[in-house]
This record gives sequence, structure tokens and C-alpha cells, in this order.
Amino acid sequence: MLEIKEFNKIIVANWKLNGSSEFLEAYFEELDLKEINSDICGIVCPPITYFQNCYSKLHSLHLGGQDCSKFKEGAYTGEISASMLRESNCEFCIVGHSERRQVFNEKNEEIKLKAELLLEEKIIPIICIGETFEQKKANETKKILKEQIIKSLPRKTSNELVVIAYEPIWAIGSGITPSPQEINNIHEYLKKEIQDIQGYKILYGGSVNSNNANEIMSLENVDGVLVGGASLKPKQFSEILRA
Ligand code: PGA
Repeated sequence: MLEIKEFNKIIVANWKLNGSSEFLEAYFEELDLKEINSDICGIVCPPITYFQNCYSKLHSLHLGGQDCSKFKEGAYTGEISASMLRESNCEFCIVGHSERRQVFNEKNEEIKLKAELLLEEKIIPIICIGETFEQKKANETKKILKEQIIKSLPRKTSNELVVIAYEPIWAIGSGITPSPQEINNIHEYLKKEIQDIQGYKILYGGSVNSNNANEIMSLENVDGVLVGGASLKPKQFSEILRA
């Protein structure tokens, strides 16, 4: 397992359901990995069918999955298990992304099962949490985040085994981000007031791009970023890795 505490910042590219062989070729031709600090942990999470192709081109970057099955093995058509991810050189895996929670109706309890199976395979789960705009307006953000954390953290967990990503759902793919102050306040709340995740690395996600990455990553309580749309643009992602 990678020693995540050794890294200063963690930067994740979440490709979601995007990519093609042609895209991959052009992407890695343009991606510029020169002069990236060795204390930056860059992770690329492509669709699983591109793992092998990506792995051969990642150099100092790491490979991550976007999800895994809550089952270990068996009659579960279409599923991909944590051990299969491990065999495909995966070192990280996003779980509980809001698109999984909303479109596929995933619950905290399932996310916890997935994170536990990943840990058994020595894959670091990146557990996503975040509030909807309605919850934010109703002043429920902290309550929702706390509940998501408590219910989705694996039983045997620690700040060296699991990463948290705070992604306000209304900021994902919208081009709208909370103010830097708001991001820092929420991260401070998570770090200082939720005992269960003391000392954990906490990433921010939601409309991160090469223009705002530097400011967001320099916030005191932010340990990195999870990037969707902008990570599909190799030039932008290269800049974010250097931010
Ligand atoms: P975005 O996506 O950067 O396109 O907002 C982030 C995410 O969904 O992880």
C-alpha cells in the first residue's frame, strides 16, 4: 500500500464515462509530467477497459478505479471486484461518488462494504461525501457530511488507509465552486470536529480547473483535489499537477 502521509497533495483525475483508444493516445502525448514535485500524488481513474493501456503510460502517476463491487465474487453479472482492480495495478479507488449515490442509488452502507473490500486488497479508498444544494440552503451541510462519514467509513480504518473527498454536489460539473473561505471552513470542520477522521487527507472536488486549482490547494485544510471535466484536458491536468 502506498504511504499516503508522505505526500503533500493528492490530485485525482476522474474520467467518468469518457475516453476511447484515440482519446488515450492523444491524451498521453499531450500530458506533461515534467517537473512535477515528488511530494505530489497524481492519480488517474479511467474506465476499467483502459487500465492496461493507461498503466503503461502513467510513469510517476498512479492508477485508480472509479468504483468497485460491494461483493467479493460470485453470480453478480457486470460487476468488477476489488481483487480484480488490484490485479489490474490499481492503487486507489473512488467510492461513493455523488453520481453513484444519485444515479445508481448507492447508500452509505454499500459504500462502507466497498471500502472494506478495497482495504482487504490494499487499495486506498477515496470516499466521496457532499451535500445537495437543497441541503446547503437548509443549513444541513455539516449534519449530512458527518452522517455520510460515520456510515461509510470502513470498520478498520485509519488516516493512512483511507482518503476523504468533499464534493458539494451542486459544484460538480456546474462551473460553480464554493468560495475558498467556504471550502476551507468545511474542511476545517471535517478535520477538527469529526473525531472519526482525525488526521485524514481531505480532498476538494467540484469544478476544479487550472485557474482555481492553485488557490484551492493552497488552503490550509485542503490536501488535494478531485478533478472531473478538467482532467480530460491533458494540458489543464498537467497544469493542475504543477499548481
Ligand atoms: P468536475 O467533477 O470537476 O467536472 O466538477 C468532479 C467530480 O465529479 O469528481
